Amino acid sequence: MPNINYDYIESYLKGLYIEKDPFLANIEEYGLRENIPIIEKESLELLRLIISIFKPNRILEIGTAIGYSAISMAKLDSKINITSFEINEKNYNIAIDNIKKAKLLDRIEVRFGDASELLTKLREDEIFDFVFIDAAKSHYLEYFNDIYKNLSNRSIIFSDNVLFKGMIADDSLVPRRDRTIVRNMREYLSFLTSQNSIKTSVIPIGDGVAISLIEKE
Ligand SMILES: C[S@@+](CC[C@H](N)C(=O)[O-])C[C@H]1O[C@@H](n2cnc3c(N)ncnc32)[C@H](O)[C@@H]1O
Repeated sequence: MPNINYDYIESYLKGLYIEKDPFLANIEEYGLRENIPIIEKESLELLRLIISIFKPNRILEIGTAIGYSAISMAKLDSKINITSFEINEKNYNIAIDNIKKAKLLDRIEVRFGDASELLTKLREDEIFDFVFIDAAKSHYLEYFNDIYKNLSNRSIIFSDNVLFKGMIADDSLVPRRDRTIVRNMREYLSFLTSQNSIKTSVIPIGDGVAISLIEKE
């Protein structure tokens, strides 16, 4: 349990959300069995809800893993197209295989490499109205700054793991090796919550989620 919610609340929520799609349930089970980090159930339900309300057309995902969240998002609406970045070759190959099996290769493109590099290579005409950030926790602010020029005039950024096992809110939980992550994530949340053009809610479910609405002039 990640020190964010009471254990009994978390267990209850996890038991409440049963994956209804057998194909996704299989990927979820594989991820849990093989220790591949995938979005927590309660955060995924929030992600699905926000996408269903906001109705984005072009989604950028940073951190594909094995394609669980990308496939979950793409299945919400046939108008959704997704570009997703993944640095781990094994995960990348499993993701491509899963996306192929889901018959979604025409709507989900996974690019292999470091997100920081791939972001700088985005073409000017690749405009996104929804970004799901779920990769290297130290780099979220950098990702935000790099993606800004490719955001539409009204977009959502959904950032996962922003409370990182509760460490972001309490120094006594932070081991030495995680200090940089904690410092950088605090800086990211301070940035998101201090801008006039950004409305952000930080929600203590899963590993902590931040939902931000970005409105350009
Ligand atoms: C939490 S997992 C993503 C889970 C996925 N979004 C899901 O819920 O199904 C994070 C992924 O980000 C990838 N990653 C970490 N650092 C990265 C980087 N610098 N560039 C691209 N991908 C990265 C990891 O290899 C890992 O597969």
